[in-house]
Amino acid sequence: MKKSTQKNGWKIYKRLIRIALKNNSTPISIAIFGMVITAVCDPALSAIMKPILDGGFIQRDQEVISLLPFGLFSIFLIRSFGIFLTIYFMAKVGRSLVFRLREMMFENLLNLPVSFYDKTSSGDLMSRISHNVELLSSVAARSLIILIRDTLTIFGLLVWMTYLSWQLTLCFMLAAPFIVILVSTLNKKFRSLTHDAQNSVGGIIHVAQEVIQGNKIVKIFKGRDKEIEKFEYTNNKNKVSHMNLAFTEGINSAVIMLIVGSSLSGIILISTFDFILESITVGSFVSFMFAMFMILGPARGLASINARLQQGIAAGENVFELIDEQKEKDDGKIEDLNINNDIIFENVSFTYENSDSSVLRNINLHIKTGEFIALVGMSGCGKSTLVNLIPRLYNPSSGSIKIDNIDMKDLKLSTLRNNISYVGQDTILFNDTIRNNIIYGQKNVSVSEINSSLEKSFSHDFVNNMPDGLDTIIGENGVLLSGGQRQRLAIARAFLKNSHILIFDEATSSLDSVSEKYIQKALDQLKIGKTTIIIAHRLSTVEKANNIIVMENGSIIENGNHEDLINRKGYYFKLYNSQLFK
Ligand SMILES: Nc1ncnc2c1ncn2[C@@H]1O[C@H](COP(=O)(O)OP(=O)(O)OP(=O)(O)O)[C@@H](O)[C@H]1O
Ligand SMILES: [Mg+2]
Repeated sequence: MKKSTQKNGWKIYKRLIRIALKNNSTPISIAIFGMVITAVCDPALSAIMKPILDGGFIQRDQEVISLLPFGLFSIFLIRSFGIFLTIYFMAKVGRSLVFRLREMMFENLLNLPVSFYDKTSSGDLMSRISHNVELLSSVAARSLIILIRDTLTIFGLLVWMTYLSWQLTLCFMLAAPFIVILVSTLNKKFRSLTHDAQNSVGGIIHVAQEVIQGNKIVKIFKGRDKEIEKFEYTNNKNKVSHMNLAFTEGINSAVIMLIVGSSLSGIILISTFDFILESITVGSFVSFMFAMFMILGPARGLASINARLQQGIAAGENVFELIDEQKEKDDGKIEDLNINNDIIFENVSFTYENSDSSVLRNINLHIKTGEFIALVGMSGCGKSTLVNLIPRLYNPSSGSIKIDNIDMKDLKLSTLRNNISYVGQDTILFNDTIRNNIIYGQKNVSVSEINSSLEKSFSHDFVNNMPDGLDTIIGENGVLLSGGQRQRLAIARAFLKNSHILIFDEATSSLDSVSEKYIQKALDQLKIGKTTIIIAHRLSTVEKANNIIVMENGSIIENGNHEDLINRKGYYFKLYNSQLFK
């Protein structure tokens, strides 16, 4: 947990209050009203003890005896009402806070640049959206209850106690600082143990997640024993930290009981002194004791307020950090683009944010509109990086990319991306129906358009054979499909989008020759009339290209068509002979 500065903490709470108050001022007011009612009822409960004993039991006053049960019942009735209002309306505020913060985080998640995802672990993001935001809202709600209800209750009870006997109250007040110190020390210990316990849950999730995702590798590479050992370690850590927590919790309760016991004994001892005995009735004494008991709960809450606030600040920092994370730059204004134009790379170099060495060096490339170009080169030479610059998933570190003579930076991102179809190296499919995967991001798609894209991508046969056809759900990232089927669906998606620029990062994994033939045929159709940039791993692809761009170590070293390049007997010829192409 990060150490937070006081100033930062205030900023977070002010921001949280602003979000909570927006559209929620009525439920907050009702909840506060409920807290005030409850806070008034506690001293009233203790106060009613006095007439019950003095008037009812000792003087046997009939009027008091007949009225008191109603009085007591009324206080309980009002208190219950107050408790209901507090719980229900604070939950309403808390839930709407969680809802709004989640919404803000999710919206920003969609706006973040790819480079953010490169450097952030998905587990960390998940825990912010699921866990931290819940913690923040529950801590904030609890703190508000403590600050308003518990403080008022303590104040009310102290006033009542002073009214009964200022001398006894004074004695009680002298003991109070010790109680607060003891309770807050225990709370601190409690907090750090709670953290250990929470973190150990993260460890368990981490190990389990890896085994679930990598279950095939675990089976084949005999990782079972190693994984069991890893799991046992984290599982045990979780058990131990929870037992430590239970131990402190037990001690905590025991100490509180001891404090109650000694205060009680102390006060009784003092009460036996003559000057007190003379000034206090039985009813007053019991009422005082009762008030003392009632003050302990809220006092514990108040003692824990700092710990809670700290916990809330830490969770708030994580939540707001994600909400404030800088969006993908989209300051280009131009929306009017004639996409039927050449794409020109001018002296483009690129370095990933988290690395020192440049991945692309001085790239100059002219892609004519309607042309079919193939990028080839050894693994890691920068092919995927180069094509990722076209839809501006990353921006060049220097140099520029132009289309229609406009620097892409000056185009609105949506204008640029609307004109690009992308079939990635790793096919990304969603755990949804085949239909929704194909029409992803498109509106008003007709059945005939879907069918035509299925046919053109040679997917219609296997889709028709699926149990629910287009409505078959294909599992997380399409696990229920074969590699070739997944790629054909990704191509069908590109067909439907029908953009002028097509980027296709051919999968390096080899497919059976039938699947491959289908994919080749599908591509042949898809690229008609489009500017097509393919990262090619197959000879059949490069042979058809108008222009082959040969890359080595981040630079373009040769280009030309297949025959020219073979005849030149340069790097491409070497690649060809080394059987780089399948
Ligand atoms: N997100 C990233 N952050 C940092 N470095 C990266 C990132 N992605 C790729 N790299 C590095 O950039 C270099 C080029 O990677 P790139 O993915 O462009 O290669 P490639 O030519 O597409 O290779 P392959 O044929 O294997 O797909 C590699 O050395 C890689 O380690
Ligand atoms: Mg690649």
